[in-house]
Amino acid sequence: MYKITIAIDGFSSTGKSTVAKRLAKALGYIYVDSGAMYRAVTLFAMEHNLIHKNQFNKAQLIKQLDAIKISFKFNKKLGFAEVYLNGQNVEKKIRTLEVSQFVSQVATVSEVREQLVLQQQSLGKDKGVVMDGRDIGTVVFPEAELKLFMTASAEKRAQRRYDELIERGDDVSFEDVLKNVQSRDHIDSTREDSPLAMAEDAIKVDNSNLNLDEQFEFIYSLAKAKIAECN
Ligand code: CDP
Repeated sequence: MYKITIAIDGFSSTGKSTVAKRLAKALGYIYVDSGAMYRAVTLFAMEHNLIHKNQFNKAQLIKQLDAIKISFKFNKKLGFAEVYLNGQNVEKKIRTLEVSQFVSQVATVSEVREQLVLQQQSLGKDKGVVMDGRDIGTVVFPEAELKLFMTASAEKRAQRRYDELIERGDDVSFEDVLKNVQSRDHIDSTREDSPLAMAEDAIKVDNSNLNLDEQFEFIYSLAKAKIAECN
């Protein structure tokens, strides 16, 4: 059976990764979390003092890019691939609010994007992939057969992310999470290189009022119809 490429883009905390993971599992496709790669580069920058006291040393990060190796390893128990930075599992470390506060700045750097996009294209070269991010349908896989663009109100999204962080045991305030969501929306949508934008042929999914099951069923039916059409 011919396998397709599914690109899921959209604003932060719209549940892209939750639905993408579930979709990949249901279809027997691989799932790639492109945001995790930008987060891993950000973590590297923080751990090497390239981000310090709110100052981001972009030139040094570009110089050190060759020292950053990002990979994914499938975790059978969790049912998805976890991200590794230079051989270390950083899946948990990259999800903190501190990393979220700098990741969009790091993601504006063209040299970083260039490397990560090449790696993403290589991960998806055999198709049968669900990838989520900000530029998957526009830059990474402009030929993807199915493109979705997820959105929801900033307050809903911040509430979801706040609940997630509290559940993990992180000490954060709702106001800080909302501020972060709004600031990343702004940086991601206005940056020069590959800004977050809906591809012309993407289907917009506003999930402000959809629960996870409803959202999954809707997207799964779109994917099945597209796969049938391509076979
Ligand atoms: O999980 P959430 O939606 O909050 O974010 P993410 O998918 O982990 O992505 C974190 C950040 O990485 C985004 O806010 C973007 O700045 C950047 N990113 C990007 O520029 N391009 C992508 N394909 C994926 C993420």
